[in-house]
Amino acid sequence: MRHDFEGPMIRVVDLVSHYGERLILNHVSLDVGAGETMVILGGSGAGKSTLLRHIIRLERPTAGHVYIRDQDACCISEERFNLLRAKMGMLFQSAALFNSMTVEENVALPLRELTHLEDSTIRIMTRMKLELVGLGGVEDYMPSELLKLKHAFMMTIVVVTHEMASAFVIADRITVMHHGEVIAIGTPDEIRANPHPRVQQFLNRTPEIETAEAPAYLRPSEGRPS
Ligand SMILES: Nc1ncnc2c1ncn2[C@@H]1O[C@H](COP(=O)(O)OP(=O)(O)O)[C@@H](O)[C@H]1O
Ligand SMILES: [Mg+2]
Repeated sequence: MRHDFEGPMIRVVDLVSHYGERLILNHVSLDVGAGETMVILGGSGAGKSTLLRHIIRLERPTAGHVYIRDQDACCISEERFNLLRAKMGMLFQSAALFNSMTVEENVALPLRELTHLEDSTIRIMTRMKLELVGLGGVEDYMPSELLKLKHAFMMTIVVVTHEMASAFVIADRITVMHHGEVIAIGTPDEIRANPHPRVQQFLNRTPEIETAEAPAYLRPSEGRPS
């Protein structure tokens, strides 16, 4: 791998993807720069998760390319791709983090609520979970401090979220997807001003309350300080 590479950290070029006969991603292209936070927005079924799966090479495209730095994901060996994976973290979003608790307390919460494991065991499991997603060492951070990490480590972040408010706070740029296509890419201000009717419809709709499906203890309660 070249160490002097100055192009985008992730480059998706004209990606086409099918599940069986069904077209899922239709010529999707986007770049994510080093140290950039890209938020992917779009309704359910738009293809956001499929796009993420391609970026970490869990899926293979019908056509098009995914480059991680200057490496074409299509054509590097599993051994080499694993070297790249070792530098990637993957965090599956469930519910929002509680801002009044540390990261470790947030991750430990379901274990405390749902199991009878001892504290010491929960502590080990929690630290292992954070290690697995590349967030080892941040246990004592408050959620609001997590974003400082990206500045400290020049982290490149791709986030899928339905939470519009946080999307606009954390994003350097936003990609809006609809029916397997990218319909807008831009800074939060550019997206707000984007005249595409689907983009405006998406920004102005009533937010989906995903946490409504989460168990009660994961739902942010109104009285909780943030
Ligand atoms: N494993 C799969 N097999 C067949 N179809 C799938 C599979 N995963 C997702 N799909 C379909 O692909 C489309 C995009 O899904 P997905 O990428 O999960 O969208 P999003 O994350 O934006 O909700 C949806 O229509 C979904 O039903
Ligand atoms: Mg999804």
